[in-house]
Amino acid sequence: MSEAIKWVKKDPLKENVFWPNEAMKERAWVSDESIYAEAKADPEGFWARQAEELHWSKHWDKAYEFAPQNYKWFVGGKLNLSYNSLDRHIEAGHGDRIALIWEPEPVDEEAVKLTYKELHRLVSKLANVLKGLGVQKGDRVGIYLPMIPEAVIAMQACARIGAPHSVVFSAFSPDSLRDRMIDAGAKVLITADGYYRRGKAINLKKNADAGIQGTPVEKVVVVKRLDGSVPMEAERDLWYHELIEGASAECPAEQMDSEDLAFLLYTSGTTGEPKGIMHTTGGYAVQSYITAKWDFDLHEGDVYWCTADVGWITGHTYINYGPLMNGVTSVMYEGSPDTPDCGRMWAIIEKHKITQLYTAPTAIRMFLKWGDEWPAKHDLSSLRLLGTVGEPINVDAWMWYFKKIGGGRCPIIDTWWQTESGATLVNSLPGIGPFIPTIAGRPFPGVIGRILDAGGSPVPAGEGGYLSIVSPFPPALTRGIYGDMERFKAQYYTEYGPERYFTSDGARVDEMGNIRITGRVDDVMNVAGHRLATAEVESALAQNDKVSEVAVVSRPHDLKGEVPVAFVLLKAGVAHSDEIRKELMGTVTTVIGPTGRPDEIIFVDDVPKTRSGKIMRRVLKALVRNEPVGDLTTLQNAESVDHLKEMIGYSG
Ligand code: PRX
Repeated sequence: MSEAIKWVKKDPLKENVFWPNEAMKERAWVSDESIYAEAKADPEGFWARQAEELHWSKHWDKAYEFAPQNYKWFVGGKLNLSYNSLDRHIEAGHGDRIALIWEPEPVDEEAVKLTYKELHRLVSKLANVLKGLGVQKGDRVGIYLPMIPEAVIAMQACARIGAPHSVVFSAFSPDSLRDRMIDAGAKVLITADGYYRRGKAINLKKNADAGIQGTPVEKVVVVKRLDGSVPMEAERDLWYHELIEGASAECPAEQMDSEDLAFLLYTSGTTGEPKGIMHTTGGYAVQSYITAKWDFDLHEGDVYWCTADVGWITGHTYINYGPLMNGVTSVMYEGSPDTPDCGRMWAIIEKHKITQLYTAPTAIRMFLKWGDEWPAKHDLSSLRLLGTVGEPINVDAWMWYFKKIGGGRCPIIDTWWQTESGATLVNSLPGIGPFIPTIAGRPFPGVIGRILDAGGSPVPAGEGGYLSIVSPFPPALTRGIYGDMERFKAQYYTEYGPERYFTSDGARVDEMGNIRITGRVDDVMNVAGHRLATAEVESALAQNDKVSEVAVVSRPHDLKGEVPVAFVLLKAGVAHSDEIRKELMGTVTTVIGPTGRPDEIIFVDDVPKTRSGKIMRRVLKALVRNEPVGDLTTLQNAESVDHLKEMIGYSG
């Protein structure tokens, strides 16, 4: 077994610091430190050089242009994301390579393998179907699909005709779907009859039917994944397989302006209302392509597996566009990692000889809990590199992943980024390192990160601050919030002005420039890798008419990272009961989906409030975390805190 990494004990305080060995350095796309200085000296030139690797039907005139809240990349250039993902490889003679491997959850079903040519054919057909339904360049298309190949086909088809997609996570509720379809103004939705999860057939069409009520959606394209027994509404609902069959496989890719909208993806902000993050074409293409290539060391013949759901940005960039633009094989798995048993992940790696695995800390903690015997049953020697994303990883989970899954030979690339950034921003590169538990690493070459105090001054190494990204901004960084540029400005460019993007993440940096992310500094939680605002859970609970007032805070959780805890005041005359607790859980499931369900609902008679009547969530957060509650002098009802302490057995 080749040793991809070696131990280095330079500093006794830093026990686990790993560096790439010679073999890893040789193989990696970049292995010379100088790339950082070179990119820093000329970020625009750096990104422009990377952009040359893609296909542009018209070269850009200017790499970067900046005006407050209006920055542009590759100005004047024209390209197509789907062309770069598919046609480019076929034209280079690689059309018979496998683009996608889909592993269904039921073990008796065969995996589906699509070559680049086959994928191109299906994408072109669906693109023509969409055109036939009246979708034109610039029209938004909703995608509400589970983890099936059609999710990638649908995104690619939209990209092919320049219709921005808006993918909604399939476990989101009908209400969530509705809000997003209305905000995006989508007239067509692509969904499925259902999917398998933990051995059960889940009916997705039912949710889609409920979710499109009251939206502009006029046509629904339905993929038949199950037995197709769902009701279809005449005129409105159309079977995907029937439409595809009759469609032409010739569909030239629409050449898009570099700054044309590529897609929308809704994510949680600090309010109850998710925001439509806008990504444009050229900058997104370039950064997705090059980060996928360098971070995950993608080479011809690699079989790369990102376990994220297509409904999240990680699925968009690192299941679909990033790997496909690199011409490798991207693996998708439909179901749950414990079906039929807790070894499914490792069985899939063995079966498809996966070379890179990219997953989330919450999943790693779960695998660790299930026990070493599961991975031990399988041959994981095909793995060359491991990645993590979504939340800070703890040392135990990192070491377990490194030793038990990576066999001590695979670097762990801890990628920090956001829906807004579209692609990775901070992580060590496989050929350069270092790989240190809990440390993401340096900003990707060409990305300028700064850790600032509240006033905007850089903090010294070792001290905590707020992570900010400085102009020239990374090319894939969001260009706006759909329909709400004021919110865009307020959220990202008010704290430190228009030239410094505010990430809402706390961080610290060491003397070598390696960054540790300490977590969100706003009211956004990461629940089992799912981004969720406390305000979203609050507004969901408030929709139940038995609720008078509600406050939601996050609490750390061993497996999920963080979980919501709800303090609920019921209306006069409504008594607390387990029934009501159940009902409220149901309300959250209906409004958001199962991801939003509180870990605990605490019924209270009063919550701490300021004199102006604002709930002091800071105090509630300290209470559920057993931390000091701090200064209470501004409270109008300080006695409520003592009462709460007693109720929840506070010992802080
Ligand atoms: O707090 C950071 C955390 O996830 C947030 C972004 O969530 P979302 O937009 O859903 O995108 C997740 C996938 C890119 C960030 O603000 N986060 C993401 N990656 C890491 C992380 N926290 C620590 N370490 C990471 N590697």
